[in-house]
Amino acid sequence: MNNGNVLRVDRHATIGQKELLNEYVNNNKPVIITDSAKQWPAVGKWTPEFFKKNYPKVSREVRGEVITLADQIDRVLASTPERPAPYPYNLEVEDYFPDLMKDLEPQLLFGKMDRGASPLMPKILLHGTPIHEVFFGGNGSSFPFVHYDALFLHTQITQIYGDKDFVLYHPNDSQYLYPRSDNEKFSQVTNVFEPDLVKFPLFAKATPYFETLRQGETIFFPCGWWHTTLTHAPSITYGRVVLNSLNYDRYLDDKYKRWMGTGQSKLKANAAYAVGKVVGGVMSTMEAFR
Ligand SMILES: [Fe+2]
Repeated sequence: MNNGNVLRVDRHATIGQKELLNEYVNNNKPVIITDSAKQWPAVGKWTPEFFKKNYPKVSREVRGEVITLADQIDRVLASTPERPAPYPYNLEVEDYFPDLMKDLEPQLLFGKMDRGASPLMPKILLHGTPIHEVFFGGNGSSFPFVHYDALFLHTQITQIYGDKDFVLYHPNDSQYLYPRSDNEKFSQVTNVFEPDLVKFPLFAKATPYFETLRQGETIFFPCGWWHTTLTHAPSITYGRVVLNSLNYDRYLDDKYKRWMGTGQSKLKANAAYAVGKVVGGVMSTMEAFR
């Protein structure tokens, strides 16, 4: 990593809605809120032992291997940088742990309206988009590449258990991050801590933001911000995508491209897109009065 010029993300214990929107969300700037989620029942309750005891048989596949949550927790606890626990190991909270959604209240709001949670939002527009996810990682667990999130969604991440290091890059640094030709949201740079500058010389010009997110702290970063994470100890993270007026149209455009790419009928995709546009217009009108 370019240690000579590392930037920091602003931190607030708590923040008013107006300042949050004006200074950060609408300004395309990340922010850390240290205290707002500390009151959540999840913080203190969601531990590796809690999940192993209550949900041992839940499983997911990571790079071709089906791993139960009980096994993943064992691997998380034994994880080392040389033999890291498989990662990302993430599960949709509403699907796998619906009873635990109430542990994440009150939810934080990063827009005039939480469009993803609005009753106006047709289910079809969110189908296949994980909204609330929980990630289990251990010492040495890291994303295999720098990326920005799919569908132009903004991201909120709260550390429920343990700490996690974040490296972020401003969207303007995309020119130094060697986006992959098959997916422009993924960087070819696989290790930002020890980058291959012979292969990726321009990467030296990218300016990292570096932060350690502590237990109970929340980071918000807007869509298009490149990021990767690294943990040094067992970690449970809640990740939540955010849809508001700023990314709604880009989300819809990207979703439409996906529908078309996955063989959905053109008629169905066009109808869903048209409904999405109308709903977006209604939401914008409602937000204008808030
Ligand atoms: Fe991500």
